[in-house]
Amino acid sequence: MTVKIAVYPGTFDPFTFGHLDVVKRSSKLFDKIIVSVAENINKSALFNLDERIKIISDVISNEKDLDKIEIRGFKGLLVDHVIDVGAVAVLRGLRALSDFEYEFQMAGINTRLSSDFETIFLMASENQQFVASRFVKEIHSLGGDVSSFVPKIVMDHLKSKKK
Ligand code: PNS
Repeated sequence: MTVKIAVYPGTFDPFTFGHLDVVKRSSKLFDKIIVSVAENINKSALFNLDERIKIISDVISNEKDLDKIEIRGFKGLLVDHVIDVGAVAVLRGLRALSDFEYEFQMAGINTRLSSDFETIFLMASENQQFVASRFVKEIHSLGGDVSSFVPKIVMDHLKSKKK
């Protein structure tokens, strides 16, 4: 039997309840999900690649029934990584209309670069529509409470970073 693998790529700086929601829902659709953490070429990342991988691994291992999830870092083009791991799909969460243009463009470019996989969008769950990593960072840096946006493990790591 062929194992259907999907890659869920992102910067995950930091990993939010919105991301966790996509992981949980997609794990019911595929045999294996690889959460692929992109090395951020943007130097303003709060957490470095190793920290982000460690945080996501801790969050996932703290969840019940999420045993077919693998966390990996990747550098370079997403299409190369997807082909490398033998995935049939790339998963992206889609929130409001504002996400659409960027996601549409990225999916189109990736399809032009390789037609070996599909990009599949999962609409964000109703209670996760407004959760975004960049707002989490901003709220946290201004002393606000982000506990409704990120898992406790992420909160603990955020606290260890200077505001
Ligand atoms: O969480 P993000 O920041 O929206 O994720 C964006 C990501 C990492 C999926 C995207 O920037 C990406 O695929 N980067 C890898 C480099 C690449 O393949 N660029 C061309 C894609 S259009």
